[in-house]
Amino acid sequence: ARLVVLVSGSGSNLQALLDATADPGYGARVVAVGADREGIAGLDRAARAGVPTFVDRVPAYPTRDEWDRALTEHVGAYRPDLVISAGFLKLVGPHFLAAFGDRYLNTHNSLLPAFPGIHGPRDALDYGVKVAGATLFFVDAGIDTGPIVAQVAVPVLDGDDEESLTERIKEAERRQLVEQVGRLVREGWTITGRRVTVP
Ligand code: GRF
Repeated sequence: ARLVVLVSGSGSNLQALLDATADPGYGARVVAVGADREGIAGLDRAARAGVPTFVDRVPAYPTRDEWDRALTEHVGAYRPDLVISAGFLKLVGPHFLAAFGDRYLNTHNSLLPAFPGIHGPRDALDYGVKVAGATLFFVDAGIDTGPIVAQVAVPVLDGDDEESLTERIKEAERRQLVEQVGRLVREGWTITGRRVTVP
């Protein structure tokens, strides 16, 4: 299966996928990495692995809609079976969702529907929950609202600060991403309403 991964930052989730896909038995390979900005570690990781990259910056287009069209076209050129947002900090638009809506995955660092948005671990700490975690889901038009594929729980420990909790979540999140993407590409999936089933 062909994976296109979208990143905006450090790309540690991308790295986990690059490492996993080095094994031909995994059943998928990363055919391209896209970003919404230059100069990020995620792009370096792709280059080091010999994977082609592209960058679509929102301000490089006259309108958000044209950016959405361009991103859709650039991703589509790689004919992906799955598109994976791994720390991609942009909400895609209607063109992208029309093309990839049933095969566009995102990983988020909270147990959704709790703590959507960009500060999952901080919001979990501030709320005082004792269990945090990560969620893998298919993206829909909302913010962190799409059909859930899998979740992994991690404990919040007494001495945690934002950094320590974020790191604990990210370790579990990377493992989940690799396991679940492997499972999806090997087994396939169906989405019925909010329910994702893997046969
Ligand atoms: C992940 O924890 C993701 O949930 C959050 O940003 C992080 C991405 O990290 N939205 P990385 O770029 O894969 O290292």
